[in-house]
Amino acid sequence: MKTIHSYWAYLVLAILIITVANAIYGLLKKKSFSDKDLRLGLFTLIFSHIQLLIGLGWYFSSPYYKALKANGSEVMGDAASRLLAIEHPVMMILATIIITIGWSKHKKKTEDHKKFKTFVIFYGIGLLLILSKIPWNQWPLV
Ligand code: HEM
Repeated sequence: MKTIHSYWAYLVLAILIITVANAIYGLLKKKSFSDKDLRLGLFTLIFSHIQLLIGLGWYFSSPYYKALKANGSEVMGDAASRLLAIEHPVMMILATIIITIGWSKHKKKTEDHKKFKTFVIFYGIGLLLILSKIPWNQWPLV
């Protein structure tokens, strides 16, 4: 689970960055919102949801969750443990919720530039939240 989570993260980040960059480009160049743009948004949504499930699957059998249950105050007092036991999971769940809201909001928009704008805002915020709480000291794998 841990290994899959670690590799799947490359896919999530890559497609999320592409979707946000594509939406910024589409917005600035006043492009029409095509099937390709829709699919990018959809695959980003699916990839991030899969990562969420893998993350949850790993989390509850991980040493971080066990340590949190056994000795919560010690985990909270240590920045590295707190990141993996609390901050990373909570922030990633939040980021996925925001991406999901962006996906459903874009569907309700009728004008192309508004669809792109919704992706820029919601997927963009999701990307920033994810980047802010990735454990950069242990990833990417080398
Ligand atoms: C979009 C969502 C997510 C992304 C992009 C993501 C990304 C990552 C990355 C890049 C790592 C470092 C992997 C490594 O050290 O090899 C990691 C570790 C971890 N993630 Fe996530 N994650 C996401 C969601 C979640 C969720 C929802 C949970 C739990 C509820 C979770 C739990 C963990 C845990 C426990 C680790 C530590 C792995 C370890 O060192 O044992 N992640 N995540």
